[in-house]
Amino acid sequence: MNNATVIDNPFVVNALTALRDKNTPTDVFRHYSDQLCSILLSESLQDLPLKKITLQTPITETTAESLDTEDIVVVPILRAGVAMLTSALSLLPKAKVGFIGLARDENTAIAKEYYYKLPKITQNTIILIVDPMLATGGSILHLLHSLSQTPAREIRVISVISAPEGLEKITAAFPKIKIFTAAIDDHLNDQKYIVPGLGDYGDRYFGTEA
Ligand code: PRP
Ligand code: URA
Repeated sequence: MNNATVIDNPFVVNALTALRDKNTPTDVFRHYSDQLCSILLSESLQDLPLKKITLQTPITETTAESLDTEDIVVVPILRAGVAMLTSALSLLPKAKVGFIGLARDENTAIAKEYYYKLPKITQNTIILIVDPMLATGGSILHLLHSLSQTPAREIRVISVISAPEGLEKITAAFPKIKIFTAAIDDHLNDQKYIVPGLGDYGDRYFGTEA
């Protein structure tokens, strides 16, 4: 049982195929990652409210609707979450950004915090946690526990690939949190990497592969 919604969109599926291919070079990986994340984020925010405004077209005055994104806080989990930030800010230019630095220990796969800075969170704030890989769920759970002290109206998690093990853990601990993902893969391997997955997202997006 989990609270994940898989975004079913042919452009997302096509982009994910390019990301999974180990022969995809960094520039192409970035292109498809940015494309996929834009669609994933917009689909996960389909219910965002619009506000009525009045404006002047070249012909006449009219009423129209525009997004109100000032109460949105995007929190990328460093480092790979930064890969989703360009897409997020292009859709939500007025959103504020908080950062948490978490690194998984290579042997235990347990996330260790090395940085934390958030903007002001109010009762109206919607927090979007962005991290492309949700594996054991440890990194996102760590952040959710910190954010549970804030008065935020709602928290959503957006990830490119998720493992069933991590999704179940997050849903068990935070049943109200909605998770949006492009794919739920099969399982985690002994090193807690997602299978079939795409390897290390941060290394592939930032070009730091060994
Ligand atoms: C990766 C990824 C997630 C985390 C997911 O980060 O970006 O943050 O692993 O794993 P989990 O669900 O088991 O916690 P990593 O620690 O490799 O750091 P990086 O972003 O600096 O590459
Ligand atoms: N982090 C990644 O980048 N990839 C995985 O498969 C698991 C965690």
